[in-house]
Amino acid sequence: MNIQFDEKNRVFKLDTEHTSYVMAVVDNEGFLGHVYYGAKISDTDVAYLLRTDENPMVPSKNNRDRSSFLDTFPMEYPGNGVGDYRESAIAVLDKNGHSAVQFFYRSHQIFDGKKKIPGLPASFAKETECQTLEIVTEDPVLGLEAVLVYTVFAGSDVITRSVRVTNHEAETIALTKVMSASFDMDAEGYEMLTLHGSWARERQIEQRPVGYGKQSVSSVRGESSHQEHPFVALVSKDATEDQGKVYGVHFVYSGNFLAQVEKNQFDTLRVMMGIHPQDFCWELKQNETFYAPETVLVFSGNGLGGMTRNLHDFYRSHMIRSPYKNKKRPILINNWEATYFDFNTEKLIAIAKEAKKCGIEMLVMDDGWFGRRNDDNTSLGDWQVNEEKITGGLKHLVDEVNVIGLQFGIWFEPEMISPDSKLYEKHPDWAIELPDRTPCRSRNQFVLDLSRKEVRDYVYEAVASVLRSANIAYVKWDMNRQLTDLGSSFLDEKHQGELMHRYVLGVYELQERLMTEFPDLLLENCSGGGARFDPGMLYYSPQIWCSDDTDAIERLKIQEGTALIYPLSAMGAHVSDCPNHTVGRVTPFATRGNVALAGTFGYELDITKIPEEDRKLIPEQTAMYHKYNDLVREGDYYRIASYAKNHEYDCYEVVSKDKKEALVTFVQVLNRPNYHSRRICLKGLQPDRNYQIEGDKGVYHGDTLMHAGINIPNMWGDFQSVLIHVKAAE
Ligand code: DGJ
Repeated sequence: MNIQFDEKNRVFKLDTEHTSYVMAVVDNEGFLGHVYYGAKISDTDVAYLLRTDENPMVPSKNNRDRSSFLDTFPMEYPGNGVGDYRESAIAVLDKNGHSAVQFFYRSHQIFDGKKKIPGLPASFAKETECQTLEIVTEDPVLGLEAVLVYTVFAGSDVITRSVRVTNHEAETIALTKVMSASFDMDAEGYEMLTLHGSWARERQIEQRPVGYGKQSVSSVRGESSHQEHPFVALVSKDATEDQGKVYGVHFVYSGNFLAQVEKNQFDTLRVMMGIHPQDFCWELKQNETFYAPETVLVFSGNGLGGMTRNLHDFYRSHMIRSPYKNKKRPILINNWEATYFDFNTEKLIAIAKEAKKCGIEMLVMDDGWFGRRNDDNTSLGDWQVNEEKITGGLKHLVDEVNVIGLQFGIWFEPEMISPDSKLYEKHPDWAIELPDRTPCRSRNQFVLDLSRKEVRDYVYEAVASVLRSANIAYVKWDMNRQLTDLGSSFLDEKHQGELMHRYVLGVYELQERLMTEFPDLLLENCSGGGARFDPGMLYYSPQIWCSDDTDAIERLKIQEGTALIYPLSAMGAHVSDCPNHTVGRVTPFATRGNVALAGTFGYELDITKIPEEDRKLIPEQTAMYHKYNDLVREGDYYRIASYAKNHEYDCYEVVSKDKKEALVTFVQVLNRPNYHSRRICLKGLQPDRNYQIEGDKGVYHGDTLMHAGINIPNMWGDFQSVLIHVKAAE
């Protein structure tokens, strides 16, 4: 049993292989307190940690100072407006205009397996692989019920949380805030690790001390965003890659979020994750339920590396559904950086022919194939092929590419509408806009109001009919602007606050429909690079375009931050031409390949035009992809050195689950003259096993390679890199 309830002491204990999560019900009223989360413990009755014997006591014993109790008690799902001054997890607007709400324990249920969350992406597992606890809590004054849902994935050391709120009263109530998870803990000098960024600079790691008051990262942009990420980790000050305590909190959602840590007067922390309350208001009529998205909690006593590997395994096994998740993806060539909007059938066929010779397996036609789209000012929404460019039509092109021996993929940006489009002429009210205000343009486009069923149906049919018309194996689903002017011509004044969440639900519904009709389609999500790289999207697509920045050196930082929490199998990574289109840097073609091998791998260049010496390397690189991809996709990932931290070199390793094989990637960023070789220590090998390094005759024990290490010679030239392939000796 991974979930126990101690009836006598009213304690819940959730155990994974290496962690425990404990809650207890106290007092006659039924306050539910958060007792402990961390390394696995043996005892269940640890409710003494709630300090109810210290002043202030629980209300039944000392109701005179109820406020002191509420101001300190580690509430598992804190209410609003009745005495707990720390961040609330929920707030309402009731029939009297009041915002107060407070929940008390009523009952619970424990069962094997896990229920789906209607309309939302969420982790999944067989009945034998996980166990769920649902705690029913109630606000008796409002007739509101909040069911706190916990699922224990014992093998992955992960506990997921979500909440569903039901209105049992005849009066309608509005929810103005519903967080998905909250827990309190003693501060003990934790630091807060988050991922920040911008376009072309996604998911850069930042770590800072936790000070008094509230510190948060968030998005109110309608998507998880380039700028901040729906993830926060609390990291003990002594934590490294390999040791120390790390709590990871990750949101399975692709829209607005708030991830917050609050340090209070008694040095305890309240950690919270959920939909950002800004611009959120959701009406619940009698018997209606609101489902808050899932949050993934992970604790590692083995530093950041332990957290990373737990999350990689968890997402690979319990979030990504695509049949591709355990398969090698076709090596693709995408024409975006090759041609931008300037292409036609002839050009694409020329690229396909050359690509085939080099071992590339799929051609992806990016933005510009439809309507009158020769630049980014027009035609989004008009998803009819432009036969002036794609002469002979789409099917003809796809068939020709198939005859050459490549699969075919296509780009869409289904959520958007150009003001200059037939669709906008016909349905201007389908765009998200505010009456009487000039809508804000971004990349000269508007966002479609996906809260409307007719809009979703149009979008779906537009995409699906193209997919039905030809042999299309892959879709890149892009989203190039964020939401503004939050107004829907479809929702009445009481429901405008639902637009942002309804929009995200609309995206999920569309992708669910797509994967249901086209189960074998390889879907790659994208948002102006990596602005919607989150666990929610992974539920629909096994890979996500990581960043528009394809420069190998910038990618070291972007991929390090991404791989901190996402499996390498999900990171869209391509080799592009130089000087790099984003930063103008020139790096060796081999280094660009070595860095892209840590992701899905593909090309983003005009293969008919690149220098001959670069083109000649492609067959070698595609062969390397086939040699190493099983290891990269399925192995355990270890960070050895971070260029973002040392500003000199980067080094990471992937080790097979059976520890018989490893691949180390080393990139020398700073070229120092007259410098000797650099010592690096491998990780994750079996200490007493013998290993050989490809190209070296020696045989070394795992412990030698891990503790004494190997020397990487200084390399001549800028941005050189090397792959080191280690195999168990026969
Ligand atoms: C942004 C994407 O990230 C790029 O790869 C490309 O598809 C462009 N959009 C096309 O408009």
